[in-house]
Amino acid sequence: MRIAHISDIHIGGTNFVPDWGEKMIEMINRIEAEIVLVSGDHTDDGYEHEFEKAKEFLARIKVPHMIVVPGNHDSRNEGYTIFEEIFGTRFPYFENEEVAILGIDSTEPDIDDGHIGRENYPLIEQRLSARNKLRILVLHHHLIPIPGTGRERNIPVDAGDVLRLCVDLRVNFVLCGHKHLPWYWMLEDTCFITAGTATSRRLKGRSYPSFNVMEVEDSRVIVKEVNVAQGSWRIAGKMNFVTGEESKKGTEAIRGMYFPLQGKAGIQTIF
Ligand SMILES: [Fe+2]
Ligand SMILES: [Fe+2]
Repeated sequence: MRIAHISDIHIGGTNFVPDWGEKMIEMINRIEAEIVLVSGDHTDDGYEHEFEKAKEFLARIKVPHMIVVPGNHDSRNEGYTIFEEIFGTRFPYFENEEVAILGIDSTEPDIDDGHIGRENYPLIEQRLSARNKLRILVLHHHLIPIPGTGRERNIPVDAGDVLRLCVDLRVNFVLCGHKHLPWYWMLEDTCFITAGTATSRRLKGRSYPSFNVMEVEDSRVIVKEVNVAQGSWRIAGKMNFVTGEESKKGTEAIRGMYFPLQGKAGIQTIF
């Protein structure tokens, strides 16, 4: 099973790069992903015309299952109501024999800070407790600070409680966006992945537009980071995820899975 994780399209913004958008769609369609996860900031300011563009843009990705959550930019200007009209629930859930994926709205109207909310913890627990499959939580905001992104801000106000919940449940992956820089943290048995933006010039320093692809086979996941501008990819990490009641030893340590942004190791060309 192949899962693509994209984030922060920021369509409608002046920094959106149509050429990168075309490349991203082409790449995802070419790898024939079964699931695409979109972790928020589809629009720049939550306006109706931006949502219409985002809807058309995402519809061009040929994939059986797309899970979409809003970002702080989508929740501006009552945009979250348009989000619900177009994408349905702000708390999507998908499950098959191999994977359980829960999307959570971590935004609040017109506020950039994240907030998951105590009222949503039981949903996370209910949906992501089963240990017999890969379990993924998707939200817009990062739960752990990301280096190289300037002053820390917007982290969910209840990040500590959600971190503890994810670690206690041994959720395999927590996927987010917001920071526009790819990064990977491992905490206990849970891997926290922040996807970059694949289509916007809202980048950090001299980093590049990117998205991630997760190759899932049995209980092994290989995470690939795709550089959209260069048409190249590299393996960002490999993980054996824990099922059943295995001890922590069942998880392969992937601390240090991140390659420095300037590094050339393992880069392979797509185009
Ligand atoms: Fe963003
Ligand atoms: Fe954001």
